[in-house]
Amino acid sequence: MNNLYLPFLAEIKEIREETPDTKTFVISAPLKFKPGQFVELSVFGYGEAPISISGGNGECIELTIRAVGNVTNKIHRMKVGDYVGIRGPFGNGWPIEKVEGKNLLIAAGGIGLAPLKPVIEHVCQNRDKFKEVTLLYGARKPSLMLFKYKFDEWSKHMNLLLTVDEPENGWKGHVGVVTTLCDKIKHVSDTITLMCGPPIMMKYTSMVLIELGFPPSEIYLSLERNMKCGIGICGHCAVGGVYVCKDGPVFSLNRAIRFIEKPHEVQGVLD
Ligand SMILES: Cc1cc2nc3c(=O)[nH]c(=O)nc-3n(C[C@H](O)[C@H](O)[C@H](O)COP(=O)(O)OP(=O)(O)OC[C@H]3O[C@@H](n4cnc5c(N)ncnc54)[C@H](O)[C@@H]3O)c2cc1C
Ligand code: FES
Repeated sequence: MNNLYLPFLAEIKEIREETPDTKTFVISAPLKFKPGQFVELSVFGYGEAPISISGGNGECIELTIRAVGNVTNKIHRMKVGDYVGIRGPFGNGWPIEKVEGKNLLIAAGGIGLAPLKPVIEHVCQNRDKFKEVTLLYGARKPSLMLFKYKFDEWSKHMNLLLTVDEPENGWKGHVGVVTTLCDKIKHVSDTITLMCGPPIMMKYTSMVLIELGFPPSEIYLSLERNMKCGIGICGHCAVGGVYVCKDGPVFSLNRAIRFIEKPHEVQGVLD
């Protein structure tokens, strides 16, 4: 049996600059993965970090990484042809099968769009399997939006609603946090929501969606926790009786409510 602690060597094939602090690395890794799964990325001599798979073609995977610390700053200084280590894929991923035949709402904030990109691409390639599809995406500024070069293509297949907190560079679109887009959603019943973003965005967007009538059992969130092993052994990511790495990182809101920030505030809306 493979040793799940042992990373395999993988070459950086391409690097795309997404925003001033975020790059997408195309890495030679012939992995089959489910949208929403993650890998443990090793940068030798620096450590490991869990990173969502933001794309892939069977030969390579894409990792969209914001430089925040030890591992992520070092990979930002690496070049095409350098090697990293990969373990995975790990985690449960988004419940895509549940969405087929239904309406789909995708809500993303900032780098939270990265784990949702494989879902969006799956929808574009299999559009007839879904009813109405809406993508809400918010970033602090237009220059911090990921995957802008994909927006034209995505908007052919779904209702793409963008917003920024602070306009710049002649931005003519919507201004405001993600929740200010929620009244533009045309479908509530028979809708599954997939959401990823900063905890505060997920909390307030969940509250607004519940007020609009979206059932919490049909809202799925991808959670971030400190991780080490990624496979349910070390206990680093344990919270409320679950391992976020193995049982998640995707949870329905009625399960996640026990471990998101100040759950009583969301609970108040649920009561
Ligand atoms: C399931 C999962 C999927 C993830 N997917 C992605 C992804 O696709 N892309 C991505 O860029 N990140 C992703 N992350 C977050 C990423 O794993 C962390 O940012 C990473 O562990 C940082 O490693 P580091 O060694 O660079 O930082 P460290 O050296 O461990 O941290 C350095 C400093 O940065 C701070 N820090 C750590 N994480 C963050 C953060 N997320 N935001 C702001 N400050 C932070 C720490 O508090 C610390 O002060 C994911 C996390 C999880 C659990
Ligand atoms: S990271 Fe080790 S149990 Fe989840």
